Amino acid sequence: MSICAYVTYEDPEGDDDERGPALSAWREAGIEGRVERWDDPAADWASYDAVVVRSVWDYIARRQEFLEWARRVASVTRLMNPCPVLESNTDKTYLRELGLPTVPTHWSSRDLPDWPEYVVKPTVSGGARDTTRTADRDRAAELAAALEAAGRTPMVQPYLDMVESEGETSLLYFNGRFSHAVRRVPMLGPDAADGRRARLRTPAADQVELAEKVLAAVPHPLLYARIDLVRLPGGEPAVIEVELTEPYLYLRHEPRAAANLAAALRELL
Ligand SMILES: Nc1ncnc2c1ncn2[C@@H]1O[C@H](COP(=O)(O)OP(=O)(O)O)[C@@H](O)[C@H]1O
Ligand SMILES: [Mg+2]
Repeated sequence: MSICAYVTYEDPEGDDDERGPALSAWREAGIEGRVERWDDPAADWASYDAVVVRSVWDYIARRQEFLEWARRVASVTRLMNPCPVLESNTDKTYLRELGLPTVPTHWSSRDLPDWPEYVVKPTVSGGARDTTRTADRDRAAELAAALEAAGRTPMVQPYLDMVESEGETSLLYFNGRFSHAVRRVPMLGPDAADGRRARLRTPAADQVELAEKVLAAVPHPLLYARIDLVRLPGGEPAVIEVELTEPYLYLRHEPRAAANLAAALRELL
């Protein structure tokens, strides 16, 4: 029986509702999972066959500490996803180097393009934290300047209203294999909702094609990957985010998802 750590950021009663389904699927696949807080000094990482990063949802304000932890763990056991992946994926400047269609992004508070509506967000974020939507160009510049003043890098994007109509599509891959996809709810503006509210969706062929190009560009095995796609005004698919660190996996939305994840973990052990 292999023993793996399921790494979270909180107490057992916290709000990660995927731990239950994940751990029971691991058990059925012959893997004992133990829940550990990433910043628990008492955790014995070397005692695990693998350490699986999951709901580490507080690393945003502590990124350097989190990456030091990841390097430490990777030096004593297998870390999933691998350390170099976590290093680059926790800062969205990776989108600049992807070489694939992404949401148009202006990376500074100066000389903003003329767009009907703006989204301003920091490159290190999650769950739409510190992310604002505004139609006012000066306000967008101010928000971006405030991020810069706080030592962060701003991303200024046109607001894509397709997140309200067609919706953002997230494709889930476990060890490179497609598991399922969901349509997510818009997270900015009056109809903003909990990002976990989603529906299963069959991705379109052009979305699968782009998601698989994104995966192919990562030179590491990935236990889990969530590729978040939108469409640009011309209809072409574009990457809004590649979630390789702490994605919610929508395991409760697809009956086979947790078993798919467990099978992928088994393969990588
Ligand atoms: N340019 C945009 N147009 C419309 N909605 C956006 C845009 N950027 C972000 N959002 C909304 O905010 C959410 C969070 O943004 P995202 O870039 O995925 O960062 P994170 O999930 O890391 O906070 C998205 O899922 C989407 O609902
Ligand atoms: Mg996101």
